[in-house]
Amino acid sequence: MKRVVVLVSGGGRNLQALLDHAAAGTLEASIVGVLSNRADAYALERARLANVPAMCLPHQNYPERADFDRALADAVSALAPDIVVMAGFMRVLGDAFLERFAGRMLNIHPSLLPRHPGLRTHDRVLEAGDLEHGATVHFVTPELDGGPRIIQGKFRVPAQHTAAMLAEKLMTEIELRIYPQAVAWFARGELGLEAGRVKFRGVPLDTPLSLQDLEDPFR
Ligand code: GRF
Repeated sequence: MKRVVVLVSGGGRNLQALLDHAAAGTLEASIVGVLSNRADAYALERARLANVPAMCLPHQNYPERADFDRALADAVSALAPDIVVMAGFMRVLGDAFLERFAGRMLNIHPSLLPRHPGLRTHDRVLEAGDLEHGATVHFVTPELDGGPRIIQGKFRVPAQHTAAMLAEKLMTEIELRIYPQAVAWFARGELGLEAGRVKFRGVPLDTPLSLQDLEDPFR
């Protein structure tokens, strides 16, 4: 079984979906550790409830960003992961960290990348009058929210939706489905990064996969 380490900072709903699929056997991987940069992240509690080792490295304890990165990289390495999954991890990591886990690190971002990298994506969708909103799972590279895209799920922006309503719809209808699916594909060896391109089942992806590609346990 492939070993998964999850990096979190917040509520951990994406983590919970991964834990649930791991318990059900559909993730085809085991979650061997959860690391947070915030002690008050509810995600840590979710990990403990699932009997997964959980640890916090408060970033404020490290005056230099590079020191935090090194400490986190060492903690991740100690868990010998095959896959590093960022699930609502809200610190930007430096190149030294990313190079250590290149090609085996995934992130989920709440927008249809390359549209709306960065923060406040739901507000920005409304401000821009976008017709569609979605989420993207991508490989992590030094370019913030810019790594090769694996899968995107989207929906039409409903009239009268607030940013909070969009965030909730995106989480329940899209994020909690596409992220466990992407991790399962990676764990099975069906997904990889080769020469900066996503390869899925041996074929380079020109466009990201979509909700139509979800397998039954992830629908
Ligand atoms: C999600 O919207 C994710 O896309 C973003 O941060 C949020 C994390 O939520 N990167 P949770 O901690 O998984 O509940």
